[in-house]
Amino acid sequence: MNTSEFYFHPPQASTVAPEVDALYFFLVAITIVFSVLVAALILYFAIRYRRSAKVDRTPFHPSFWMEVSWLILPLPLLLGIFVWSADVYFTLQRPPAGAMEFSVVAKQWMWKLQHPSGRREIDTLHVPKGQPVRLNMISQDVIHSFYVPAFRMKQDVLPGRYTQCWFEATQVGEFHLFCAEYCGTNHSRMIGKVIVMEPDEYQAWLAGGSPSESPVVAGQKLFEQLRCDSCHLPQGGEQSRGPSLANLAGKPVTLTTGDQVTADDNYLRESILRSANKVVAGYQPIMPSYEGQIGEEQVLQLIAYIRSMGAATEAQK
Ligand code: CUA
Repeated sequence: MNTSEFYFHPPQASTVAPEVDALYFFLVAITIVFSVLVAALILYFAIRYRRSAKVDRTPFHPSFWMEVSWLILPLPLLLGIFVWSADVYFTLQRPPAGAMEFSVVAKQWMWKLQHPSGRREIDTLHVPKGQPVRLNMISQDVIHSFYVPAFRMKQDVLPGRYTQCWFEATQVGEFHLFCAEYCGTNHSRMIGKVIVMEPDEYQAWLAGGSPSESPVVAGQKLFEQLRCDSCHLPQGGEQSRGPSLANLAGKPVTLTTGDQVTADDNYLRESILRSANKVVAGYQPIMPSYEGQIGEEQVLQLIAYIRSMGAATEAQK
């Protein structure tokens, strides 16, 4: 496939693409039906009631039931569209369990992508066919938007906050990747491609690259290098100057303010970069701030490692 081709209607290359298209074409069809109807009536009345025509011009007063019927009749149609769209939206927003997790760090003007195995790519993403892929995304600078038309998938990539999206490719091939949010001079050149491969070819491709550390392993090294382990003892307790991080990810945490928060990726990121913002109940705000000390990729590695600590403890039980 020639990547310079322009598609009015891009190929349907993901599991959600037919669902999105069905809704889209239904909305277009309804719009056409009512636009044509209204335009035709305008034209008809303009001719029929033109100034020279001798017609009855007494104002028309609809009956009560006529009014009720044109309020009630469109209701199921509109509610139907709402329910249908909400259903598609939920599908788009909820990655299936067991999806492969990739990370995306956007910056002016490139996409930095990392595979679960640790392999890195820039502006090109290789993925296996028939496998749900979840993208955990953040920007290093301004707002970008990760857009793959063939997958009917578009998600803003924000500075300071993780956003997610997912897809499952259904066709082998090369598909356009665009930045869909104006992000500065070279926005229009912040493009790339997604290359969908058969699962065994993908494995072969992964094996063919230079050996790389998984985010968990890289995160563990960084954790030790930054001496996080000197305060965050695995067992927590009296001697620990910071709370234990084992089995923390995804769990509720009580703060010194009494508020409860969930230790999701955004919370973990904030606690690494601006630790004084949300201090865990029972601890002092003594952790240094790592803002400006480590980059987004390193924060992602630390989070991957912290998440794996939970998994390790669970497995030992
Ligand atoms: Cu990045 Cu536009």
